[in-house]
Amino acid sequence: MSLKQKLCLAVLASGSGTNLQSIIDQCRRGLLNAEIKLVISNNPDAGALERAERAGINNICINHRGFDTRESFDQAVVSALKEVKTELVVLAGFMRIISPLFLQAFPQRIINIHPALLPSFPGLHVQQKAINYGAKFSGCTVHLVDGGVDTGPIIVQAVVPILDNDTEETLAARILEQEHKIYPQAIQWFAEGRVKITKRQVKIENCINLETALINPPLPQREK
Ligand code: GAR
Repeated sequence: MSLKQKLCLAVLASGSGTNLQSIIDQCRRGLLNAEIKLVISNNPDAGALERAERAGINNICINHRGFDTRESFDQAVVSALKEVKTELVVLAGFMRIISPLFLQAFPQRIINIHPALLPSFPGLHVQQKAINYGAKFSGCTVHLVDGGVDTGPIIVQAVVPILDNDTEETLAARILEQEHKIYPQAIQWFAEGRVKITKRQVKIENCINLETALINPPLPQREK
């Protein structure tokens, strides 16, 4: 573990929280030089809150139903995030659109994970949409959050082949496996100060790029 100070994270989640769990686990194993200061959910029944509680992490529910406007909800979230001195806001299955007020409070410091290869299939039910479309690959994307829906600059992607017999559930499960790998790693790159952003281009300092193309279905081996 590096002696550098840990990056202060807050994780926002609306659902079961398996991505949150992968971040908790990697922090525990010393693979992530970060500390989750706070978990916030807008959903009182979110499994993510239970996971945080079990891990002894400060957690709160800020139920959006108790607010008249998106801005007043976001203001409450921003205040909670500022109180714990959040340096990086990690959206992990947080099913709310982020208002300009929230974005301006954490410029280029809000990241999201999306279960498709953006810019294809933004929005909801994207695994089924990728299957219905007949795409041969899907995957997941970690990106910075901007004013649009899943439109921010891309940090890292994992490619997952779509199999002929895939259902929404089987594809989602294989994508989720990759989410649990790339999201903690993206956070670690922030912790190491290696994420360099120029307009839409995000580069990770001192990273080797993948040069191999992926083909699905694979081509047969042929003699020359
Ligand atoms: C994940 O698949 C994540 O990519 C997706 O919600 C799921 C949350 O799972 N996020 C979105 O669709 C955001 N547009 P989890 O609660 O088990 O981490």
